Amino acid sequence: MKAIVYAKYGSPDVLQLNEVERPVPKYNEVLVHVHAASANPLDWHFMRGTPYIMRIQTGLFRPKNNVMGVDVAGRIEAVGKDVKEFQPGDEVFGVCNGAFAEYVCASPRFLVKKPVNVRFEQAAAVPIAAFTALQGLCKQGLIQPGQKVLINGAAGGVGTFAVQIAKSLGAEVTGVCSTRNVAMVRSIGADHVIDYTKEDFALNRNTYDLIFDTVGNRSLLVCRRMLKPHGTIVIVGSQSKGRWLGPLARPFCGLLMSRFVTQRIKMLMATWSNKDLVTMHELLESGKVTPVIDRYYHLSELTEAIRYLEEGHAQGKVIITCEQKIPHG
Ligand SMILES: NC(=O)c1ccc[n+]([C@@H]2O[C@H](COP(=O)([O-])OP(=O)(O)OC[C@H]3O[C@@H](n4cnc5c(N)ncnc54)[C@H](OP(=O)(O)O)[C@@H]3O)[C@@H](O)[C@H]2O)c1
Repeated sequence: MKAIVYAKYGSPDVLQLNEVERPVPKYNEVLVHVHAASANPLDWHFMRGTPYIMRIQTGLFRPKNNVMGVDVAGRIEAVGKDVKEFQPGDEVFGVCNGAFAEYVCASPRFLVKKPVNVRFEQAAAVPIAAFTALQGLCKQGLIQPGQKVLINGAAGGVGTFAVQIAKSLGAEVTGVCSTRNVAMVRSIGADHVIDYTKEDFALNRNTYDLIFDTVGNRSLLVCRRMLKPHGTIVIVGSQSKGRWLGPLARPFCGLLMSRFVTQRIKMLMATWSNKDLVTMHELLESGKVTPVIDRYYHLSELTEAIRYLEEGHAQGKVIITCEQKIPHG
């Protein structure tokens, strides 16, 4: 089978599409025939091995794990002898290690059935971005119906899920994005949209109960001024390019600051969650959330997909498909 592999850290040129052995599921795993995967910023962090602090886990000088891709959607091809939850032929989505391949082994804990009203490409768009949105808004942000929520980076992979999930939970949502994305962010449910190329959101006089920040381009002092006295900021992402701590520097500052102020400053490290997959299954099935897909790339074009994602201006999610015929729209 074909799979993306990489033997050293570096630019997207380190990624190779190789012919490798089809994996065999262990007794507690399933083998998924991958129809689609999606790319996340974490993929290029793994590829580059930056920020360096993450190499403690991923391998100091070269990647310990030479496969890439986490979000997956496909059909179960085979199941290990102890697996009761799924059978061959089931259509599923979830997370695994090595989704940028034609086949991958996965734990049934981190897969759920794909709703029938959702295409494989849409389902593959969901897991990591939706975990981040759900855990940031609910677990860290303690979002409540009627609250005023600001989503900075509303047009990105995470932001497009955060807008829709916050709306489904009854919040009044303001999204921040650039001009070309204003209509899209409004179309997915944002009550107000701030075009950051025309208006500095820090200068408007509104205050928010919750700021969900995937961009991290404003200082925490500025963000605090925009929060109600007992409001919460959830630090999700940052544009810091520092090689050692990179996007982690801002959350660490936030954690220190949070000890001295009334507002809650929370750092998010999204984790794989079966419960969140089940929640997303319901939200997709009910039509409360529809993944926003920006571009489709074939598995053989992964280097271009990652280059595009690294530019930081995706409009929703970037999908990697193993199908010969790439869908449009
Ligand atoms: N903490 C965690 O566990 C966790 C999990 C997942 C992701 N993340 C991080 O969260 C961040 C976002 O992830 P993603 O998957 O959404 O990335 P993405 O799909 O690449 O989206 C980036 C988005 O940021 C927007 N953007 C860029 N500059 C902006 C600005 N100045 N103001 C407002 N929006 C701006 C872009 O929209 P425009 O084109 O309109 O500028 C684009 O849509 C990344 O840094 C990622 O590493 C963290």
